[in-house]
Amino acid sequence: MNNNTNSNKDLKDLAIEGKLPLKAVGIENLKEDNPKHMPPNRYLFPWYARRPTPAARLAVLASVLPSGASSDDILDLMQIKPRSGIDIPLEEYVINKKSTEGERSGTLGEHYGYPRPFESSPDRKQQQELHSKLRDFWNGDLPTVLDPTAGSGVIPLESLRYGLPTKANELNPVPSVMLKVVLDYPISAGHLRQEVEQWGSKIDEIATEELQEYYPSQGNSQTPSHYISTYTITCPNCGCDLPLTSKLWLLKRSSSEGIAARPDYSDGELSFERVELPDDVTKQEFNPQDGPRSRGGNTECPNCEVVTESSEVKSRVKDGEYEYNILGVKYTKSSGGSGYRVANKEDYIGYEKAVDRVESDFNLFSLLTQKIAQNGQKTSEPAGYGFSEWRDVFTDRQLVALYEYWQAFEQVKDQIKEQYPQEKSEAIMAILALAGGKMVDRNSRLSPYDIQRGYPKDLTGAKNLSPQWQFTDNNPSSGNQQYLDILDRILGSYEKIVGYLENSETEPAEILTGDAADLNIEENSVESVVVDPPYYSSIMYAELSDIFYVWLKQYLDDVFPDLFTEELTDKDSEAVANPSRFSDVAENTSKKDLARRDYEDKMSDIFSEIYRVVEPGGVMTVMFTHKETDAWDTLTKSLINSGFTITATHPITSERPNRTDTQGSGSADSTLLLVGRKPHQTDEKRRSTPTLWSDVKHKTRAAAKNAARDLIDSSFNLTKTDIIISAFGPTLRVFAESYPVVDDQDEDVPPRQALEEAREAVTRVLAEEYLEAEGIDDLDGVTEWYILCWLVYGKQTFSYDEGHQLGLGVGIDVDDIKRNTKIWRRSSGDIKLRGYSDRVQNINEKPENRSSRTPVNPDDLSFGLALDKVHAAMHVYDVQGESACCDWLRERNFDSDSTFKSTLKALLQVLPHDYEDWELARDLAAGRTRDVLDLDFSPNVFAEDSEQTQQKGIDDY
Ligand SMILES: C[S@@+](CC[C@H](N)C(=O)[O-])C[C@H]1O[C@@H](n2cnc3c(N)ncnc32)[C@H](O)[C@@H]1O
Ligand SMILES: [Zn+2]
Repeated sequence: MNNNTNSNKDLKDLAIEGKLPLKAVGIENLKEDNPKHMPPNRYLFPWYARRPTPAARLAVLASVLPSGASSDDILDLMQIKPRSGIDIPLEEYVINKKSTEGERSGTLGEHYGYPRPFESSPDRKQQQELHSKLRDFWNGDLPTVLDPTAGSGVIPLESLRYGLPTKANELNPVPSVMLKVVLDYPISAGHLRQEVEQWGSKIDEIATEELQEYYPSQGNSQTPSHYISTYTITCPNCGCDLPLTSKLWLLKRSSSEGIAARPDYSDGELSFERVELPDDVTKQEFNPQDGPRSRGGNTECPNCEVVTESSEVKSRVKDGEYEYNILGVKYTKSSGGSGYRVANKEDYIGYEKAVDRVESDFNLFSLLTQKIAQNGQKTSEPAGYGFSEWRDVFTDRQLVALYEYWQAFEQVKDQIKEQYPQEKSEAIMAILALAGGKMVDRNSRLSPYDIQRGYPKDLTGAKNLSPQWQFTDNNPSSGNQQYLDILDRILGSYEKIVGYLENSETEPAEILTGDAADLNIEENSVESVVVDPPYYSSIMYAELSDIFYVWLKQYLDDVFPDLFTEELTDKDSEAVANPSRFSDVAENTSKKDLARRDYEDKMSDIFSEIYRVVEPGGVMTVMFTHKETDAWDTLTKSLINSGFTITATHPITSERPNRTDTQGSGSADSTLLLVGRKPHQTDEKRRSTPTLWSDVKHKTRAAAKNAARDLIDSSFNLTKTDIIISAFGPTLRVFAESYPVVDDQDEDVPPRQALEEAREAVTRVLAEEYLEAEGIDDLDGVTEWYILCWLVYGKQTFSYDEGHQLGLGVGIDVDDIKRNTKIWRRSSGDIKLRGYSDRVQNINEKPENRSSRTPVNPDDLSFGLALDKVHAAMHVYDVQGESACCDWLRERNFDSDSTFKSTLKALLQVLPHDYEDWELARDLAAGRTRDVLDLDFSPNVFAEDSEQTQQKGIDDY
């Protein structure tokens, strides 16, 4: 949002306080959302909640650039520009390209005329120009950029690409290793392909030799690569082995084609037969989709058909009363390619050897004995299946395999240390360790087997730690997708990052590991902070990463002695809302509430700490995800309390353009930027003397309205929701200037109230701008809310929080009206508006036969809500036709009812044209009913109107 000057006179505006090319950046974010071709940093190691490069790049650049940079300047710097010259603004170019993306013949890169942003960095000349601009603005020096919760380092990597002094802090040692590999070694150690390949091959050779006996080959022609595994318990009825798998596929090509393992009890014991569908057997005769285990966990014995209940299965497994079982073996052929077979005796002998080895080798017996928290938010599930130490999440053979690779690494470690300077040897070891640790992701009892691809999936995919009934026991030496491939991918990613940073004449980033609430950074020493904080309970980073931590600790504790001092990751300092940390509290206290409060306190400490390290005049840009606006209140409050002045907010939406559906939101994860500045002098008076809300209220409204007007008048492409959120910045700014704010009872007024005010004020502006219907304000609150929702969101389903807020703005509580009016219902946590057909009783049915769930009775002569009148009319028109509807309208004197007319008129304008209610509204306003109603408007006018709106570009992006 554009704010002209900061109130604190000495604060010179930054680009992030002006207009930003949000649409183009949103489009670029979406382009990054391609699982087959992700930014290299994502292949290094699993991590959670990584931000897209374009959003991070925009946040970094706009937080250092002075205001006055145009959208074109910013996009050009961001490398979002075609190689050939164009004569329209870049943002428009990107939007045009997006709208024709589906019709392209070549790659995305060819279509847009430039690669995706993560693939390119600014050249030296561009960096130099940028640096000179930045030095002018920042009193001679380049600004330092800090990310205090850096995760895998997406944000600081962007800062390094632009040659800026960069600091990255992270609490968790797992991503901290990644930070070194992304932000330090590419600059301090440079290219390492040859070295890492050499050591990697050596490790693979040593480990392969050691592991051979556990993966017996069929002669030399078949090497087992994956044992598709499950468990068996003894059937309580017939005493046979009962496999606990839900699927019997080894490879599923379609629902009726593929390779499967069919249980066979003809010898009185369980064995499997390899069958091909449909050649050997059809799906009707044997459906591998219906394994013994059902969804809920009840398991039916294939031999005697008696069902063992889920609770019984679980308790047996928990008590260790189960056996390891191999459904099938995937193998690689010496001639190339792979195949599937069922297991034989040799395969079990190989496994038994691993069991014996673990029992007899003390090093293995005592490996990874760190405890799994039994009551953890994410670890109680594995604990419930009897996993008590981290070693338990591996089969004995998985454990031996991972162990031998680690041992092979240990064998070459000293040679690596001797042969290279410190930085380089550290870099080589870190990359090798990441490969060792990453094997865990697809080689554990928590990693599901992907029956369609014939590979294990990663255990991190589901953001949960769930024991799998069907998993794979991998042979990491067997080639395809195993150790050397994993290493190669990590190395390839590292090499790319080295390439990205080759143009930057900058020092490596300074990497800190610790609590963001206690940074080892001097006060007033950082110009720009860009932070993407953890968010309440959305991801339990620490709990989820212990499984990797325990391995990386084995590999690296002597290389990075400061990183791996603890047994497990630090759950206590982590800023997440984790109820399991409060399990000891008294019965009547809500753990969830305590956890939320704990999170809020921690975030407040983090903001205060950031405030301390930022230099006066500096900036902090916070990245949130869009759907999380409901918690703005708390976060903005702690931000204001820590001393920051809020100056701007920006939504980077990634909604797909030309969206015409009225149903789903069609949007990907969107990012929201909230900008705070540290004033030159703290205005103590401002912070100590409360201001009356009644004095501030009109100012906040005015600020929000002006902001919205500016945006509508600009040729800027924004959705209506975006306009509302963009107006929050100026609103919060006014609020923050008057902070603390109290009401006439001397009670604190939270920022939420200002935001509600802003939302409502901007909605009015939008209604004035886009609705021709007069008298909307005179309608009842419910009808008004319904119309405004359609106006603002343009679709039937939208976020509960936003709809709720909009309701507060017009004086209704959506929860209070839900039951009586049936005007909306919940749909996966969202609000879904109901149309007339869901709300009006069937007039053709006798009253006693009508559904009691529909509130509007079309026989009534008067109605509670204006919307009920129009919905009832639509229904009558629909089921009884035009002429009956004319009579119906006359009987109720709707020709002289202004609320009926304004509602109809408004609906005609706000409903999407592919929605059935719009068609009925049009019929009512166009047919003979039009004359009865004495309408002074026609639906055609609105069709044109809405097209015009689209051309203006405000409507549908
Ligand atoms: C949303 S993620 C950051 C993701 C990152 N922007 C990326 O793209 O990879 C938040 C991070 O904050 C870290 N974190 C949680 N509590 C912390 C604390 N008290 N101090 C520092 N970092 C913390 C988590 O470990 C997690 O990596
Ligand atoms: Zn049985």
